[in-house]
Amino acid sequence: MPVDRRSPAARRRARAGRPPRATLRRLRAAASARRVHLTWTSLFGVVTATCLLVLAVTGILLSVVYVPSGALVTYDGPYAPLAGAQVSEAFDSVMTLSWETTGGLLIRQTHHWAALVLPASLIMQLLSTFFSGGFRRPRRVAWLLLVGLFVLALVGGWSGYALPDDMLSGTGLRIVQGVALGIPVLGTWAAGLLFGDGFPGRIIETLAPLHMWVVPAGIAVVLVARAVLAWRHGPTVPAVAAAKGTLGVRLWPDAALRALRMGAMTTAVLVLLGATTTISPVWSYGPADPGNVGAGSQPDWYMGFLDGALRLVPSGWETEWFGYTWTFAVLVPLLAVGAWFVALALYPFLEGWATRDTVDHHVLERPRNVPVRTGIGVAGALFYGVLWGAASADILATTFQVSFESVITVLQITLLAGPPLAFDVTRRMAVGLQRKDRDIALHGHETGRIVRTARGEYLEIHAPADATTRALLTTVAVGTVPARPDHDGRRSVTRGLRELLGRWFAEGHVRPEGHPRSERETAVGNLGGRRGGVDSRPPRRADAA
Ligand code: HEM
Repeated sequence: MPVDRRSPAARRRARAGRPPRATLRRLRAAASARRVHLTWTSLFGVVTATCLLVLAVTGILLSVVYVPSGALVTYDGPYAPLAGAQVSEAFDSVMTLSWETTGGLLIRQTHHWAALVLPASLIMQLLSTFFSGGFRRPRRVAWLLLVGLFVLALVGGWSGYALPDDMLSGTGLRIVQGVALGIPVLGTWAAGLLFGDGFPGRIIETLAPLHMWVVPAGIAVVLVARAVLAWRHGPTVPAVAAAKGTLGVRLWPDAALRALRMGAMTTAVLVLLGATTTISPVWSYGPADPGNVGAGSQPDWYMGFLDGALRLVPSGWETEWFGYTWTFAVLVPLLAVGAWFVALALYPFLEGWATRDTVDHHVLERPRNVPVRTGIGVAGALFYGVLWGAASADILATTFQVSFESVITVLQITLLAGPPLAFDVTRRMAVGLQRKDRDIALHGHETGRIVRTARGEYLEIHAPADATTRALLTTVAVGTVPARPDHDGRRSVTRGLRELLGRWFAEGHVRPEGHPRSERETAVGNLGGRRGGVDSRPPRRADAA
């Protein structure tokens, strides 16, 4: 092979001078050489990207007519019930968009529907990455970026929801102002930064650039960074594909064209929803009014968990310390939700630290094979789900004709008792599923055929599992490394905690009998790790061992 002896700078200069067509050819060749495995979870990445594209295109069109100003004007448009009402310029422009601009309502509603689908798709991406261990080395930064993208989408949705300045968005903003003011020491400053003087102050003028510039720019940076990392790390391999030894399809044109098709279908569905299904009918909510709140006000679904967290705090949680009022009714939900997000973002680092995992992983895991992680995931999802459900506590109470207080009490109990219970049940189910896998790997599938032997015994016939199934069902455990003592013979608290977490994380792995130990297991065994017929270490695929 000819050796390129040019300096890196000379190579860069040559690349910059290369005609675009040659660069395109090179890119196409590289993409054709790349193989990716397509699974149904790959769809969510495409749905996310499509929602962002639809939001950008419709958002730019909306900003042509939208006026980001809270200054009051008299409404004189065609919607008779509001004739002569004092409304903000922002509300007036959204009414113009909805009633007087050709295609305006379609664009508004498509924008809003895309904003509703985006967090759902991101949550599915987070869940599938979490439960399959797709966040492990070397993809930990990519996971951080995915969590960051989710947070940016929430900020984008929340700030967009406020822009029309209707009664619903005004109610949401009043809650935000209350929460900001409830933060000791910094609260007044934070509320002043957002709202200026009083309420609603200049909140529309503050949120419009955040929504139209800062959030989209942040999202673009995250997307580019994720694309670069994805290219560098290569695609993950689903456990089934690894067992079968399939290569996947070419990134270009096979996977790319399928993604384009899926993107076109998603766009069509969003436009269809925008054309046929009313969302955010600001004319029936009316303009924002600090003195009024509409009954049954609900945030967009993805912000429900914050609203629910506020509703679940018992009343009267407030005290005075150091001359400040400490409103725990605000602080506890903020801390709980903040801690949940920090735990979500840092989980891969915590798991890697506890299990002393220092190798790169490219094959995804089956959730049942990592019972503790799966249990933690279900517990975390339940925690989020209960907070989310609590945002609709008033609707639940009126729908089921029960008292609001009883709904809140049930949700409070579920919030505290549900996650540990869900963890334990899930972990046990995962272990049970592993035992079933072990039975199939060792004895094959049940056929339902019972035969009687010459000696009168009854036996069920098992069909041996094929090699692919056996490869899929057979996982190799990786042990926890015991904490080494310090030079003075004692173990530090951190090392002890690490070993404790490692052992806890390793619980519940069922290994097919007679399965050979991996190299790492043997090394761990030599260090004094626990051994037994039923292993108690976390499973790892053969590639990780
Ligand atoms: C993550 C990306 C985005 C999300 C989640 C999002 C979400 C939203 C939501 C929920 C609304 C309220 C829609 C309604 O009135 O019913 C809205 C309004 C608006 N958005 Fe976005 N948006 C995003 C990106 C953008 C971008 C990139 C632009 C423009 C450059 C933009 C411009 C606007 C404008 C002008 C409005 C006010 C008009 C109106 O409410 O009808 N958005 N956005």
